[in-house]
Amino acid sequence: MSNAIIEQLNSAVAAAEEKLKAATSENDIENVRIEMNGRKGIIPALSKEMKNVPPEQRKDTGIAFNDAKNKLQEFLDAAVDRIAGSSDSSGECDIDLTLPGRKWQSGRKHPISTVMDDCVSIFRRMGFIVVDGPEIEDVYHNFDALNTPADHPSRDPGDTFYFGDGRLLRTQTSPVQIRTMENNDPPIRIVAPGRTFRRDTPDATHSMNFHQIEGLYIDRNVSLGDLKSALLYFAHEMFGPKVGIRMRPHFFPFTEPSVEVDFSCIMCEGKGCRICKNSGWLEIAGAGMVDPNVLKNVGYDPDEWSGYAWGMGIERIAMLRYRINDIRFLYENDVRFLEQF
Ligand code: DAH
Repeated sequence: MSNAIIEQLNSAVAAAEEKLKAATSENDIENVRIEMNGRKGIIPALSKEMKNVPPEQRKDTGIAFNDAKNKLQEFLDAAVDRIAGSSDSSGECDIDLTLPGRKWQSGRKHPISTVMDDCVSIFRRMGFIVVDGPEIEDVYHNFDALNTPADHPSRDPGDTFYFGDGRLLRTQTSPVQIRTMENNDPPIRIVAPGRTFRRDTPDATHSMNFHQIEGLYIDRNVSLGDLKSALLYFAHEMFGPKVGIRMRPHFFPFTEPSVEVDFSCIMCEGKGCRICKNSGWLEIAGAGMVDPNVLKNVGYDPDEWSGYAWGMGIERIAMLRYRINDIRFLYENDVRFLEQF
């Protein structure tokens, strides 16, 4: 007995047989299997039609399904055997032993992550705890609470990425200082590593998104000398015992006094070279003593508590450490660059 389903089954199996005879790769065979017997294949689709088959034809139709599946499996097996046997059916090995081996591409840590992790582990050894903060910030935490005046140029939409609702992509990791102090009582000793965003035009030393590690230490009787010794220890751990540091007066809204921290040039050891622009020094961090206004903003008594803070750029350290002369290499994900690390 025959019906439309049996006819369709038979012609599909015949077509599959032709395709399998012509198959030249395991992939070809797998495609036929999927087309016939995959989740959306011809055989499962036809078997859904079973319910429409008149009862007196069901038995024969069922047998036809079994036959079709068995035949298909036979053709599949034959095709697999044919392809597997084809390479050495002559008894000779046709692998070309003179071909160079295939290179094994293994993944590895990005230089930014390596430097970030190294920074974190140095500061952890000094007793700093790692904290996190949001990359999407509000104006209060990124600027106001950090004592940044309303007309400060860094607030300009030409410099900072704002969202329609007034929130922004944090321009620095400093807002994590505020969030930490809001939620914890002193003493505080934290580092906050993370991504930051600025509306800069990308070039060899600028990127719209980069990484910083922020540090904050709040206790009784903290001095600028404490800050200097912490950063000197960091310099030695990161770049070796020959590195010296110096502080230059500067201005940041959230510290008073504020300094910029330079490390003696790790390339020329302070003699002067192209990297340090012949000055013998490399600018590494902004830092200072936490401004009493900042302490007041988080409800700390500035007469009782004092502290230091710093922020430094991870890309800058990575570029010095690995002699990278263009920051854009760090974001392009060019394998030829990445596999050097
Ligand atoms: N937030 C500053 C920047 O992005 C860096 C900085 C300077 C952080 C002084 C600090 C600090 O914590 O005390 O340029």
